[in-house]
Amino acid sequence: MRIGVLTAGGDCPGLNAVIRSVVHRAVAGHGDEVIGFEDGFKGLLEGRYHKLDLNAVSGILARGGTVLGSSRLERDRLREACEDTEELSRELALDALIPIGGEGTLTASAMLADAGLPVVGVPKTIDNDISATDRTFGFDTAVGVATEAMDRLKTTAESHQRVMVVEVMGRHAGWIALESGMAGGAHGICLPERPFDIGNLCKMVEERFDRQKKFAVICVAEGAHPAEGTMEYQKGEIDQYGHERFTGIGNRLAVELERRLGKEAKPVILGHVQRGGTPTAYDRVLATRYGWHAVEAVHRGDFGQMTALRGTDIVMAPLAQATRELKRVPEDRMDEAEVVF
Ligand code: F6P
Repeated sequence: MRIGVLTAGGDCPGLNAVIRSVVHRAVAGHGDEVIGFEDGFKGLLEGRYHKLDLNAVSGILARGGTVLGSSRLERDRLREACEDTEELSRELALDALIPIGGEGTLTASAMLADAGLPVVGVPKTIDNDISATDRTFGFDTAVGVATEAMDRLKTTAESHQRVMVVEVMGRHAGWIALESGMAGGAHGICLPERPFDIGNLCKMVEERFDRQKKFAVICVAEGAHPAEGTMEYQKGEIDQYGHERFTGIGNRLAVELERRLGKEAKPVILGHVQRGGTPTAYDRVLATRYGWHAVEAVHRGDFGQMTALRGTDIVMAPLAQATRELKRVPEDRMDEAEVVF
């Protein structure tokens, strides 16, 4: 068989582990030919690809980023291509395509599958917000980076009696904030799923200072926002999910806390550092299992599906189901953290 693989959307630690695993299973396991499209769907549409053999993927397991390159999706170009998938398949002579990506990529993959291309998707995102799977690879790495940052920030916060506001990624879902906040022992966590009350955050900080714990760390997801009427803030744009999109919440929250408390509050925006660098062992294993199962699905002819983790098993889930809605943090998970405001 001739199998194409591509990585699209924002990068994520573990992408190279999937690519390597696809090549190992397909080439060494089944005697297939694997080609890698460059820069996501752009490479597919422009016919830019190269052959991936065992040597091409040697030494990439622990590397962050993607050796294939990635790009954001140009939906209109892809839609046009869907009008004549037969020509696309003929030109590329593909028996199957394995796109690795997040919500946008999986939606595009579902579109290609509906248009008749033999597609098996692999979900990725550090945000862990794809509903059809219990976990996405990259999430564990991002949580580890944010946790380490909070461990480090606590010691400097304590030395200077400061409040640290750590902004982590998560535009629509607060999984990284929740889990890194819990692991890093944050004293406050703010999530996109529950508008926070700055009055309660201030009370928490005051109460800590009163009992001689003269510092605090607050972990805030980039998509978190204050409850109506509790803090002045500029309204964000409405995104494709009908959620309001905010920018700069970490900075704004630190400024406002400093003003209300009369104590120093420092914003720390972790940004893309959460997405870069080497994946954790957990992410490498999950990514490797996804790659292996994607190739097996291709050989079974299980198209229009993506790999997914259910409990400890890898199963297949319809691409359409995967992209229907985002997986957001439920209330009971917030309760367990005790410090979600
Ligand atoms: O979806 C993954 C993600 O890392 C989000 O958490 C973040 O908001 C976004 O990507 C950032 O994307 P970009 O690389 O385009 O800045």
